[in-house]
Order: sequence, then C-alpha cells, then structure tokens
Amino acid sequence: MSSFNSIAAKRIAQIINLSEEEIVGMLVKPPKPEMGDIGFPCFTLAKALKKAPPQIAAELAGKVEQGAPFSEAKAVGPYLNFIIDESAVAASTVGAALASPENWGKSESGKGKTMVIDYGSPNIAKPLAIHHMRTNVIGAALMRIYKATGWNVVAINHLGDWGTTFGQLMVSYKKAEAENPDQPVDVDALFKLYVKFHADMEADENLGNEARDWFKKLEDGDEEAKRLWKSFVDASMKPLYKIYGRLGMHFDHYLGESYFEDKMEATVENIKARNLLKESEGAMVIDLEEYGMPPLLVQKRDGATTYATRDLAAAEYRHKEFSFDKCLYVVANQQELHFRQVFKALELMGYDWANGCEHIKFGMLSLGPGVFGENNGEAITGSTRKGVVIFLADVLDRAVEKAKEILLDNARSESVKANVDTLAEQIGVGAVMFTEFMQRRMKDITFTWDRALNQQGDSGVYLQYTHARLSSIIRKYGKALPKEIDLSKLETDFERAVMMKVGQFPAAVEQAAKENEPSIVASYLLELCAVFNRMYTDKERHKIISEDEILSAARVGLVESVRITLANGLALLGLAAPEEM
Ligand code: ARG
Repeated sequence: MSSFNSIAAKRIAQIINLSEEEIVGMLVKPPKPEMGDIGFPCFTLAKALKKAPPQIAAELAGKVEQGAPFSEAKAVGPYLNFIIDESAVAASTVGAALASPENWGKSESGKGKTMVIDYGSPNIAKPLAIHHMRTNVIGAALMRIYKATGWNVVAINHLGDWGTTFGQLMVSYKKAEAENPDQPVDVDALFKLYVKFHADMEADENLGNEARDWFKKLEDGDEEAKRLWKSFVDASMKPLYKIYGRLGMHFDHYLGESYFEDKMEATVENIKARNLLKESEGAMVIDLEEYGMPPLLVQKRDGATTYATRDLAAAEYRHKEFSFDKCLYVVANQQELHFRQVFKALELMGYDWANGCEHIKFGMLSLGPGVFGENNGEAITGSTRKGVVIFLADVLDRAVEKAKEILLDNARSESVKANVDTLAEQIGVGAVMFTEFMQRRMKDITFTWDRALNQQGDSGVYLQYTHARLSSIIRKYGKALPKEIDLSKLETDFERAVMMKVGQFPAAVEQAAKENEPSIVASYLLELCAVFNRMYTDKERHKIISEDEILSAARVGLVESVRITLANGLALLGLAAPEEM
C-alpha cells in the first residue's frame, strides 16, 4: 500500500503548498472500502484557504492528476479520496512479468549497498552432517534474495580450518600412522580419527595437552604440523565442493579461520590500543561485565588464539576489503552469546560499522522417529564427537532414491523416464532443501520424509509439480503468445485473484530481504500455487485453451506469468523448476 500512498501524495503535492513527506504523514484509510483506499483530510487547509473543508476537497478533486494506478480521485465530504484500480494494477504486473521474465521479482532497493554474508562456514575435517543444512540453504537463499533486491553481495565461507581440533587430529593421526604407515587421509578417515581421539581422551586426559601442544606448534609454524594440517584441509575440501554443487551454493571467497593467522597480531594490538585487553588467570580477555556478558577470550594461557579473535580479525578484514553496509552471519542460535560478545567488542574497539553486523540465527533441526535407520527421533545437532551423526550426503542420496521411486511409479511420459536421474536429483535435493523454508527460521524443525516428499501439501515437490503442470499447459498451447494480450478478458473472481497474487511477488521478495527470512518467499509461492490451482480445477469456468483466440491468449498469458513467478521464486530458494515430472 505504501507505494500507492506516495503516488497519491506526489499528486497532491503538485496542487497544494505542502511537501510530499508532509502529505504522506496526513493520509488516512477511509472507514469504508467503497469510499476509496486512501484519504487526504482537508481540515488543516481550511484556515489558510479560508474555505470549508468539503469545498476544498471538491476543488482538489477537480485539479488532481487522474489515472492509473487509481481508477478515480474524488471528494467524499471533507476528504480527497483515491480508489486503487486493482485489476489495472494486477494486469500491469502480469504484463511486466511477461515482458521481462528474467527481471520479474527484482528491484533496485538495495542499489549501491554492499552486504557481506558469512554462511556455510563448517568446521572441516569431518563430513557435513544433516544440521549443516540450515546455514547452507538459508544462507544461499538470502544471498540470492539480496542480489535480487539490488544489493552488491559478497558471500564468504569462514571455514573452521584452524583451532585445537587440528591438534587433536594430529595426535590421533600420528598414533594411527605409527601402527599403519598407509593410514589414509580422506574425510571419512579423519572423522574416525576425530571420534577416536575423544574416546581415547576419556582414558587418557593427557591427550588434551598433547593436542594443544600440536596446535601450538602449528601456530608457531612447525613444518610437520603445517604439512599435516594442509593434508587434512585438502582432504576435506573435495567432498565439500561436491555437496555445495548439489545444493546450488556459491561463495565469492573461501576465507577460513586459518587465513587470519597472521592478521590476529594486529587485531590484538588494536584491542590493546583501546585499553580493552585484560589479563585473567594468565589468559587475555576483553571484559564485558558491564554489558552483562562473560569476558571474551582473546588469547589462551599458552598464547594460542581463539575462535573469537579470528572473528574479530575477520570482521576488520571484511570491512576494510568490502566496506560493507551489512555483514550477516548465518549461524545457529547456539552461538548467540558468541556473536553478541564479538559485536560488542568491535563496538568497543571504536568501529561504528559494528552496528551493521547481524547474527542471522536459526533453530534446531532434528530427525523424526525412524527417519534414518536406527535414529529414534532424538535431536542430533552437536553430537559429532561421539560419532552419532547423520551425514548430509546420505540424507540427500536417500531423498534422491525416494524421489526416483515416486517418479517411476507415476511416470506419465517416456521423457520423464529417460530423464529420471536428473529429475530425481532435482526433486530429492529440492525436497530436503525446502523443509528449511516451511517455517520461519527461528523455529526448530523435525524432518520427516512424509513432509518433505508430500506431493499435495506444503512442499518443494508440490511447487515443482505445479511448475511442471504450468509448463505442460504452455506446451499444449504450442505457439508463441501474441505481443498484445488483452488481460481485461480475465474477469472471473478466481482469475483476478491469480493476477493479484502474481503482482505481489516483488513485495514478497522485498519483505524476505527486509526480515532476512527466505520462508516469506516460500509461503508466498505456496499461496500462489493454491490460488492458481483453485482456478485451474474449476475447469467449467476456466477452460484455458478454447476456440476464443483472444481469451485463450489472455489465459495462457496468465498461466505463463504464474510459471515465471514460480520459476524465479524457486530459483531464489535454490530449487530447480522442472518442465515435466
Ligand atoms: N565454524 C563454525 C561452526 O561450525 C561456524 C562459523 C560461523 N561464522 C563465523 N564467522 N563465526 O560452529
């Protein structure tokens, strides 16, 4: 509504002596819809003009610019009221979608602004687990949604490729290598070593010190430690890239924690220069008691740096390199305190850009009972140490298998059968991804196959299926749409509802960016499909292709605008839009 308000205000500003902003502040909503959609009260003008308000309203109505997006501007008592021409507005948006499909849904509201997004960012040397789904899928969607609203986006993977874990791996790797000179270094072997380290540590506490020593060596530049570290990192990246490809993720930069190794000294100096560094039991901290938070650990007793210090250095680097307006961290809710501490520390370090940093939190993901083998529905986040973890790649593979079964069961055409592997990948992976968007991100999710693969209900499969159905209607029409389509032919209540819904797409994308909430796009798409399917199943009144060429073109045009909207919306969320399934 607000854009209509500003158009109305602009028109009023042309004929009276008030600014557009002042007028916007005066606008009201008329009490009854038949009176109009936007009202401008004329009382305050009465004194200056020495006329009665109704007379002023009547004069303004005679002078004000008429025409779209309003069907009329008229005097109603002491008000000048504007009536929004909804069908004209809807028709013009459908027209915009058809005229420029690739730009439909895009805007320029973020033009000139830069957003750095830190997402994905796993701790490496172990395979991705199912709970990594959340940051990957939500982060990639936000990246695309911001781009669609005109932001310049820099996507960064802040890999967890530094820290004591690597010391732990070195300890158990050295032990394993002593027993077996051919000890493999791939991500599965590393994961086993990691689990073994934690099991062994229960018996031998000293292992913790050994691990710290190894990490210290790594930080001090020891050759062997560096060589081992490098081989662990290399082994981890290959499977990571593969999953990122499957999930449609993209990064402009991989700047892991290790990248900040030689930048932390300067960061520590900056902290010192602000008189923020305090000693506490041999370690160095930033005291945050005044702000109701525990101290931020900058340097451990042995001089080793911390996750937090690397985040401070990374934030400084990001601002220096990209001078961002916003820096988003798409990270689980559990790290809430960490980010509050880091952002406060940046503020205390004197960086006014710290208020552009924002933690984009999300709730927990757990698997429903029996979803995966012996899993009994317990929350699985964060149990990797004991080795009880469900790998993301396995969940995707299972989803693809199930999608393939469903496709082959229903296969309506030979080309679906011929393409079944590609389609199964698109649908299976899409189904798992879409579960991320079925509720607002702060809500916990329980993953079940029924929900993920439900063809009728709120699922990615349902959206993809609707897209395939729309595509098949267009194929049936079998020719290019005429240049001029008479959308005024679309007169039924259901057709008008579809037009109105299509027109809301750009606003949904805008809102999703504003709230950092991709689920807004998802629920919009579900509503769009519901409104379309309501029209489509009412076949009596809505035969799409008929003898009437002009009506057919209008209806097919409408179908095509829904298809474009759905395809663009799915693309924002990272899902494929199959033409047939
Ligand atoms: N590697 C961390 C983890 O897996 C997440 C990193 C998030 N980003 C950041 N800049 N701290 O828990």
